[in-house]
Amino acid sequence: MKTLFNEPTTNTLRESEKVYRKLQLNYQRNKQQDRTEMLDEAAQSFHYETCKNEYWNPEEFSLLYGTPLWDQASASQKIILNHLYWVAYYSQIISAEIATILFNQTSAAGLYAQEDFRLICDMLDLESAQERTHISAFKTVSEQVESALFGKRIFTYPMRGPYGETMVYADTNVLKTWWKKLQLQCFGLLSSGNTFLACQYFTVRGVRTLNGKLVQHKLSGYYQTHPEKEKAPIPAKISYYHFMDESFHFNSSTILSHDVVKCLKNPTAFEQFVANLGLRGCQKDHYHFSVAINGIFWYDPALYPAIYQVLCSEIFGMSDREAKEMMRRCFTEESLGLHRSCQTHEEAIASYKVYLEKVDYAWKSNREMEIMAANSLSKYLSLQKQAFAKFE
Ligand SMILES: [Fe+2]
Ligand SMILES: [Fe+2]
Repeated sequence: MKTLFNEPTTNTLRESEKVYRKLQLNYQRNKQQDRTEMLDEAAQSFHYETCKNEYWNPEEFSLLYGTPLWDQASASQKIILNHLYWVAYYSQIISAEIATILFNQTSAAGLYAQEDFRLICDMLDLESAQERTHISAFKTVSEQVESALFGKRIFTYPMRGPYGETMVYADTNVLKTWWKKLQLQCFGLLSSGNTFLACQYFTVRGVRTLNGKLVQHKLSGYYQTHPEKEKAPIPAKISYYHFMDESFHFNSSTILSHDVVKCLKNPTAFEQFVANLGLRGCQKDHYHFSVAINGIFWYDPALYPAIYQVLCSEIFGMSDREAKEMMRRCFTEESLGLHRSCQTHEEAIASYKVYLEKVDYAWKSNREMEIMAANSLSKYLSLQKQAFAKFE
């Protein structure tokens, strides 16, 4: 194909009418159904007082569901554990979305260098604006809840930048956090000047969104099937609106990482290497699973202090000894909750594998999710036993 000036062009999207059309459709639908106003309105009208006596998520999406703590909790404590799941879950989502905003922008920089990629960049602008709305809604609710229940932060944190650990409770230390920051900064720089890497970011984003979809689909169902939607608790409504927005984001990740990438010239060995490092990093981030919170791949030993505070708060009123004994049973023994969390981890692995089937430059270790798949229920338990002995 030649342009008006008879220049040879490469990497045009228009040449692939089908891909262009898919992108256009996804972007237009997202714009038409944009939930920004509804989310802002919901967050603004949230008062914990008015919905503190009801569930916000299906029962199994409660903090420490299916553990000895859950089994002995009173009806009102169970409701609070259900709210705390919401708070903890979306505090993790805030962190992931802070990073997403940055990489949407650096990737857009790497993509708008191409002749007719404006559509993709406009779509990413909309998605970034939506992420800011999501963050603000999650933050408003979570902070109000923690302020009412504890008078201090437990799972929430003040607003922060994109270069920290994306996993709020990770197996990390000062050195690892510093190294992570350097890697994120490098990837930002590289992707902003490299179309292939910019495009490949969406493979990682797609995988991460798949993880979100597994749980958020169920959280959103609570509102969808609520007998009286107008009276449904606001956090459930927020879960639903958020899930709707994220479905479009997932579609765009898929189109970018499966189709648009094929419109570019083949990646160099270096580009393939960096892309695979990104996927490997994602596997490492998603290696663990948590008995406390099904569907978020937190490193439980990092979570002990937060759970300890919850148990010693007025809600459970446990003494130091009681709290530690309860934690020992919850974290180091087999339970229904642990089985469910492990099962979600396995489901995630299976869905990531399917997603990567179409990514032909992925290493076998990434395509088969070898790092993630190496974890297991028995490994979880032996790790917890060691870590908990130190904590005690
Ligand atoms: Fe979001
Ligand atoms: Fe998103």
